[in-house]
Amino acid sequence: MILVTGGAGFIGSNFVLDWLTAEGTPVVNLDKLTYAGNLGNLVSLSDDARHVFVRGDICDRELLAGLLRQHRPRAIVHFAAESHVDRSIHDPGGFIETNVVGTFSLLEETRAYWAGLTGDEREGFRFLHVSTDEVYGSLGPGDPAFTESTAYTPNSPYAASKAGSDHLVRAYHHTYGLPTITTNCSNNYGPYQFPEKLIPLVILNACEGKPLPVYGDGRNVRDWLYVGDHCSAIRVALAQGMCGETYNIGGSAERANIDVVTTICDIMDELRPQGAPHRKLVTYVTDRPGHDRRYAVDTARIRRELGWQPTKRFESGLRATVEWYLGNMDWVRSVTSGDYRRWVETNYGARSSA
Ligand code: NAD
Ligand code: DAU
Repeated sequence: MILVTGGAGFIGSNFVLDWLTAEGTPVVNLDKLTYAGNLGNLVSLSDDARHVFVRGDICDRELLAGLLRQHRPRAIVHFAAESHVDRSIHDPGGFIETNVVGTFSLLEETRAYWAGLTGDEREGFRFLHVSTDEVYGSLGPGDPAFTESTAYTPNSPYAASKAGSDHLVRAYHHTYGLPTITTNCSNNYGPYQFPEKLIPLVILNACEGKPLPVYGDGRNVRDWLYVGDHCSAIRVALAQGMCGETYNIGGSAERANIDVVTTICDIMDELRPQGAPHRKLVTYVTDRPGHDRRYAVDTARIRRELGWQPTKRFESGLRATVEWYLGNMDWVRSVTSGDYRRWVETNYGARSSA
């Protein structure tokens, strides 16, 4: 079996579902169920004995040691993190705790567990750390895309905490020989993304006729990848990646934020004509402090060495995502709890129209 951390979050839950379909071997899923974790993402597995859910914190070393002893995983896939840049600006402490201290705790307990393995179990063990392209900082309009050797220049507390975790993972390979693999991925979108992030937030606000908040001039660029393609890249990296190495993952789909927002509006006009034109809801608001201008990921390495490539084009993935949210309003209602409403008030209440 494999141990997944953060498997009730957006990417983690997509990964658990994808893994059980593609590989079929059991998963122990350790998740703290913060506001971003939701067992509703995994409801289709409620009677599936291959999925064992454990509620707990990656900072809890006793719990980690017990889970490793009991389940003896052949691999760990580490998603658990605080993941939202805006939250890291308002309140960075939790990002240091989970992303840095939590990753350290997991590495320490994994090191102890791995030291006790022998033969094929030790040979075959892998620790895959899921990270982000944000560790590389911000690109200018004509700069080449991030490669695996681009210098780290994290600009937000979130990015800095992920960079810290990446450095720890690197050090555990270099110093102790722990068989680690790190992946650095661009912006994901798709089902089960918590509606604090741009794409689901805009879809749901458009549904309700609310303003669509666009930070700054709307010309910041992100490189979008459908979440299912991220899951397949992680599976491939786990199976074939070289220990101690890093692999960049991305969709080669650079889009300015305003273009993403207006494309969603156009899809909504077709699917919900009663609200058209949804573009009238676009509202420019005060920019995010330290807002990175552009991300773009060079995926030549994972394509060349591991034979991975994305399968979904951005426009068709975006349409599928809008359709998924419109068809899953019960899920939306279940995650937009009191905490969600407090967050919307904190973040957008503080921003005046620019
Ligand atoms: P998410 O916020 O949707 O989910 C995070 C999950 O981790 C939640 O289920 C939460 O309950 C859990 N968690 C948080 N703190 C925990 C703790 N201390 N112990 C145990 N569980 C805890 O995040 P996501 O968007 O699914 O991102 C998953 C990973 O992928 C993160 O490491 C993130 O940095 C990385 N990543 C995300 C993107 C993206 O676009 N979303 C892109 C590249 C990399
Ligand atoms: O690049 C990978 C990263 O992508 C991941 O590591 C992070 O976990 C993930 O949250 C994401 O970070 P971003 O900050 O790029 O994602 P977000 O959806 O918050 O914002 C996308 C862009 O849209 C960004 O330029 C900010 C802008 N934006 C965002 C929100 C929430 C707006 O213009 N308005 C908004 O209301």
